[in-house]
Amino acid sequence: QQWTTAQRYRPYSAYSTKLVTKLQRQQQDSIWHLGYHIQPASGLLNDPNGFTYYNHQWHVFYQNFPFGPVHGLKSWVHLTSPDLTHWTADGLKIYPDTKYESHGAYSGSALAVGSDLFLMYTGNVRDENWQRHPYQLGATLDQNGTLHKLAQPLIGDIPAGYTDHFRDPQLIEHEGTYYAFIGARKQDDTAHILAYQAPDPKGPWTLKGELHYSDQNLGYMVECPNLIFIDQQPVLIFCPQGLSQTIASYDNIYPNMYIVGEAFDWDTLSFINPTGPQNLDGGFDVYATQAFNAPDDQAYAISWLGLPDTTYPSDAENWQGCFSLVKHLTLVAGQLRQQAVAQGLAKAAFDPKTADLQLQEKLQFDFPNFPKGQLQIKAQHSSDKLTLSFDAQTHSLTVDRGQMGQPVALDHGTIRSIQLPATALRLTLWLDHSAFELYVNDGAQVVSGRLFPRQADTYQLDTSQLAADDFEVSGTRLQ
Ligand code: FRU
Repeated sequence: QQWTTAQRYRPYSAYSTKLVTKLQRQQQDSIWHLGYHIQPASGLLNDPNGFTYYNHQWHVFYQNFPFGPVHGLKSWVHLTSPDLTHWTADGLKIYPDTKYESHGAYSGSALAVGSDLFLMYTGNVRDENWQRHPYQLGATLDQNGTLHKLAQPLIGDIPAGYTDHFRDPQLIEHEGTYYAFIGARKQDDTAHILAYQAPDPKGPWTLKGELHYSDQNLGYMVECPNLIFIDQQPVLIFCPQGLSQTIASYDNIYPNMYIVGEAFDWDTLSFINPTGPQNLDGGFDVYATQAFNAPDDQAYAISWLGLPDTTYPSDAENWQGCFSLVKHLTLVAGQLRQQAVAQGLAKAAFDPKTADLQLQEKLQFDFPNFPKGQLQIKAQHSSDKLTLSFDAQTHSLTVDRGQMGQPVALDHGTIRSIQLPATALRLTLWLDHSAFELYVNDGAQVVSGRLFPRQADTYQLDTSQLAADDFEVSGTRLQ
């Protein structure tokens, strides 16, 4: 089905509850329905928003177009969790129902302020000439879960010299002052993150300047900026668009990158001795990652497993997108480490060398020396397989999803490779029906992606093509 612009921006009231129920059932009944990852109740899920801790619970929202597998009129759907693993859906929370968000309640963030959760996000407006007018909006969620939108935008104007690509505010607090970091495209087509300051999240907000995190030109636009701190060191997680491959190479249509600084100067909003940008994930689908520092200062991130301007096989079933697991972020010798937070998912241990896989397991491999050859997760009743190959010469690991069911984003290739140290290797592979997350060496690197097997099936681990010294593999079934 082709979606015209007019169809994408029809008001929510134009859709019947009967249709929504049908779309929800289609998602539920899909063979690609995920077992333990966040997915849309219906339609398209994209960015994580408002990921935070408030009122004794973890909160996250997803960008949603509930009526089909396309980027249409966006809203926010709310979920809560006691443990960052088990999420309860609380339904659509921010409707695009004011004149400041007539074409979508776009991405933003949340921060507990007083007894409320304060939400700051971008209202997307298009005029009759389809010209964009972004507004940075505020809302509070009270302890009863009721949303109150502020009547006026927090930031209504685009600063001089910048374009209408001005969105995705990250709200944080530092020493009693509030900061909003907003992705922006300058009129000279360079990418920036603008920093605003306010004594109170309700305002008044004043422009402080650009965030300084690189001396290089990192493309024309930044989406979804996040400044977090790990052991006092600043870490920027962001989505640069138009980034030159000579600065950092990447295989996806748009990368999700990170930069680590030795320290942060709040007066000049500068990273001291920043690294260059590096891929946050070496896989196929991570984008729009949202990260924040919890009240105990620990840093957590969650990603959209999906890319802009990309179609997915599940579009045929009218839905698209899911989230990654929550990842706990630490720095080890200045390098980012991402570890899956997945408390209480373990159901039973099993031996993956002999037992079947249902694609709802965690497999862990420990290689005392760097292996050679390949291992596969093979379907029993079709030729579908996911292949991990190891090159002992170049110390690289390649993940190939090209034989695993229906193709995805073929223009960007079916394999991804990462370089590894020439040492022992630990792999933790999370499988969830239509998604995998591979954590390498306890999260020193992560390779994630979506998979669309042809049919419901059982799978087997095949290590017959692997040359490895007495390695260990263990399995855990997940609920
Ligand atoms: C990133 C993004 C954001 C925007 C949102 C709209 O995927 O384009 O920049 O706020 O999605 O859904």
